[in-house]
Amino acid sequence: MTDLSDTPTLTGDLVALRPADGRDAPCLHALMADPEVTRLTGSAHSSEDLTSARWSVEQLVEVYDRWSKAEDRLVWAVVERTSGAVVGEALLLDHDPGNRSCSFRIWISGARDRGLGTEATRLAVGHAFTTLGLHRVQLEVYAFNPRARRVYEKVGFVLEGTQREALLFDGRWVDLHLMGMLEQDWRAAAGR
Ligand SMILES: CC(C)(COP(=O)(O)OP(=O)(O)OC[C@H]1O[C@@H](n2cnc3c(N)ncnc32)[C@H](O)[C@@H]1OP(=O)(O)O)[C@@H](O)C(=O)NCCC(=O)NCCS
Repeated sequence: MTDLSDTPTLTGDLVALRPADGRDAPCLHALMADPEVTRLTGSAHSSEDLTSARWSVEQLVEVYDRWSKAEDRLVWAVVERTSGAVVGEALLLDHDPGNRSCSFRIWISGARDRGLGTEATRLAVGHAFTTLGLHRVQLEVYAFNPRARRVYEKVGFVLEGTQREALLFDGRWVDLHLMGMLEQDWRAAAGR
């Protein structure tokens, strides 16, 4: 059965996804201090919390080194090809071999709205379906994140359900949407 221990580099027109490990921790630590990333990934409960670091660089070195060896996930640094700069991370995670499924997660800092996230999502999800032979990829997106939802719909994810009032942010409840894509959705979206 396929496991997710081999992380290839995936290269597109705008971005490359390359395996991330502890050496990327200082860069990713700085990028994830971006308040918009913190808010939209549901990592804070108030605007005041958005700037407080959740992890130290040392903790992230350990986390990324551990994840780079894990068999249930692929962890990539998203590299903008024009600058060569790391701009975020993308993951296939929670691999369930028996059901040929996994989850997807992405964030980008400082280089948004230039098409990078869409291409990075297509590269990662395409790898899941075409190389790993998975049947299903799922993700979660908060209702206050229409940009991410737009990206996921463009790639071929469909809304499957909603956890109502799953996040409390600045005293307001925010719904969490579950989106999924099946291998037939991928083939249809890609015109295959
Ligand atoms: C979500 C994310 C990965 C998308 O990557 P990106 O590079 O910014 O997105 P792209 O430029 O590829 O595409 C953005 C799309 O959303 C659209 N968009 C932008 N703002 C929007 C808004 N407020 N409402 C609806 N659509 C919006 C853009 O027009 C574009 O669609 P188009 O190509 O049809 O014009 C990135 O913005 C990000 O990391 N954001 C912060 C963290 C986050 O939200 N992570 C995801 C958690 S689920």
